[in-house]
Formats: sequence, structure tokens, C-alpha cells
Amino acid sequence: MSTNAQTVTALEAQHVLQTYKRLPVVFVRGEGTRLFDESGRGYLDFISGIGVVVLGHAHAGLAAVVADQAKTLIHTSNLYYHPLQGQLAAKLASLSGLQRSFFCNSGTEAVEACLKFARRYWYSKGVKHRTGYVALEHGFSGRTMGALSVTANAHYREPFEPLVPGVTFVSPDDVAGLEAAVTESTAAIIAEPIQGEGGVRPLPPAFAAAIARVTRQTGTLLIADEIQCGLGRTGRTFEFQGLGWTPDLVTIGKAIGSGIPIGAALVAEHVAKEIFPGDHGTTYGGNLLSTRAAIYVLDQLSGPIAANVKAVGPVFERRLLDLQKKHPVVRSVRGAGLMRGLELAVDAQPAIDAALKAGLLVNRTAERVIRMLPPLTVSVAEIDEAIGILDRALASVPAPGSGVEVKA
Ligand SMILES: Cc1ncc(COP(=O)(O)O)c(C=O)c1O
Repeated sequence: MSTNAQTVTALEAQHVLQTYKRLPVVFVRGEGTRLFDESGRGYLDFISGIGVVVLGHAHAGLAAVVADQAKTLIHTSNLYYHPLQGQLAAKLASLSGLQRSFFCNSGTEAVEACLKFARRYWYSKGVKHRTGYVALEHGFSGRTMGALSVTANAHYREPFEPLVPGVTFVSPDDVAGLEAAVTESTAAIIAEPIQGEGGVRPLPPAFAAAIARVTRQTGTLLIADEIQCGLGRTGRTFEFQGLGWTPDLVTIGKAIGSGIPIGAALVAEHVAKEIFPGDHGTTYGGNLLSTRAAIYVLDQLSGPIAANVKAVGPVFERRLLDLQKKHPVVRSVRGAGLMRGLELAVDAQPAIDAALKAGLLVNRTAERVIRMLPPLTVSVAEIDEAIGILDRALASVPAPGSGVEVKA
């Protein structure tokens, strides 16, 4: 690490709350799929700020609209109208089929909002005992008290218990378990169509179908958490659209601002009817800067970007399957489009460290999975370059059976 980088890390070590375990690299600039560290070294970014920077770094069009909006008006609060919230909400309604949006600043906040809206729906209807939630094992929906309550990982949960009561976790392989878990006191089921943090696991089709059936039969609300998999990353605008779901609530975040913080809860009209002024709110939510950025990003996502994901997604998958054939340490290739996981037979961190050294950014999730979420503008040449680095990184990790194998 250079002296500059050492100064940066030393200052953080002294003054930044140590909630993150960072990798030893300091980024100062970006361009498309590349990030540059303070010494000028380029890295191929196949994690894009954890699925956020969908347009690529330093995108000229996004920079121009953000600069223009910053010079015009950034923020007024939700005390007054401005012209952009309605425009963004109308776009989201036409893309999702859910009529209304509530804007916030992150994915977690979108989840919090949906958990509240689900309870408020039943309360307004006079069914005050429907307050529980069904959530999924391996699911991740954030780390505030409500979102954490429907996040499965015990390591994240236990130090903060007691959490919101009435949450039942079900294995996404257990249809009977789902049927048993949904009772007359369940307000909503929350599920990611492809579980991201949990290891890039698409829901098994039979389980996804069971969610659709059980929610329809019992009136239980369905919250689709599309924060990581939604908005075009998989080749679909929303993953729920391929599962036969008609969610009552949808959470979005990450991609929608391509780095400008914004999240949203999308709300179907029958739920929206039961929500009233004062039920929820946030000072920044839907301000001019973030909504202007999101309108621009959505226009890009439904035009040239969608075409790119359709073109390069299958190439990425083929290259990853080739890696699986070549390296016995790779157990499976998971995900869809440009949301991919390589499941290894061993801890993924050594391979990820080797990739970083060779100039490729990917990240570990669920211990054995190398997660890849490149910008949606990524090219085939960049995919080939990344695959070359991964190929060498995988060759350097201990093979299964060498004593460092991790149990599934
Ligand atoms: C599926 C899902 N839900 C919720 C969240 C939380 O979003 P945020 O980190 O923007 O608060 C994440 C973040 O990784 C996520 O992947």
C-alpha cells in the first residue's frame, strides 16, 4: 500500500466506526467498468458498488443531469410538491404494474416501509391480529430493526434481539413448511426472487409457485424484494414478472439511482387505499436530485441497457459454465443475466483475494460463493478479461478434498 493509502486507512481506523471489513484498496476515480486506485492502477469492477452502478462509473449523461439538477434545486422536503416525484412514480407504475410509489433513500428503508404498509393494510381493514411475517432462510432484506427481523442470518440478528416479533422463517425448498407457516395472523410474506446475499440463489420454481398460490388463497400480502435482482440486471425489468407473482408490494433500491441514493416501495392500489397521511415519511425521500437521477437511469435501463444485458448475459453464463467444467472446485453457476454466483466447494475468499491482486473486483457471499454484479453496460471484451482473471484465481485455490473444504 502506498503512503497515501496508508494515511487513508489510518484515519479511518481512528475515526470511522468499524462496522465494515474493507479490502486493502483505496479508490479515487472510475470510468465505465473500471475503478482506479490512488496510485492510478485500474481494476475491472464486477461488483459495481454491490449491484448499484448499473450505468458504469462516471457516466457522462447521469453526471450531466445530476449537475444540472444540483444547479437548479436539490431538495425542498415533502412539505411541498415538486415536478419530479410524480413523473418517476408514473414510470415505475408502468414498468411494474403497481400504481403508487413511496420514495426513500435506501433498500432497507424500502423494506421497512413495506413491512409497515402490510401491517397498516390489515389494521385499516379492522383485521388487527394479522401482524406477522413469513420470511425465507438465506434471505437478506437489510439491517434496521424491521428489515433485520426478516433477514435470516443469525450472525446479523442475534446481537440485536429481541427483534420484531411474529416472524417465521421457511426454507425455500419446503413448500409444506410454507403452507404451514402462513396462518391467520400472517400479514405478509417477504421474498427475494433471487436471493442475493444468501448466495445468489434463484427460488426453486415449485416454491415460487407455492408463494403465488398461498398468497392468493389466504389473502396474505406478498412483498417482492427486488432490491438486488430487479430493474434489468437479470434481463427482466422485475424478476417477479417471470414467477407468476402479483405482488402487493415491491421494494427497489440499488440500481435505480446508479449511485445516487434512492429506494422505493411500490404499492398496489388496494394496499395504497389503506395508507394515510402521517403513516410513514422521511425528510430526504424523493427529493429533486435523486428523482431526477432515477428518471434518467430508468430511461437508460429500458433502452440501450436492456439490449446490452440480453446480448452479454448469455455470453457471461457460457463463460462461467466453461470455468465450472475446467475447475472441479466450482460446484455450480447460479443466477441469471448479470447477477451471477460461482458456488465453490471451499471458502471463496482466497479466490477473491487472488482476483483483487490481479485487478478484478468480485465479492464473497454465503462463504463459498463468488458474487458478480457488473455494471449493466459491461462488454463481452470485459467479460472475457474478467473470466481470464477468475480462471487464474481459481487455479490458485486449494482443490476440494485438500482439507479446507467447507460443508454445504
Ligand atoms: C435483497 C436486498 N434487500 C435489501 C437490501 C438492503 O438494501 P440497502 O443496503 O440499500 O439498505 C439489500 C442489500 O444488499 C438486498 O440485497
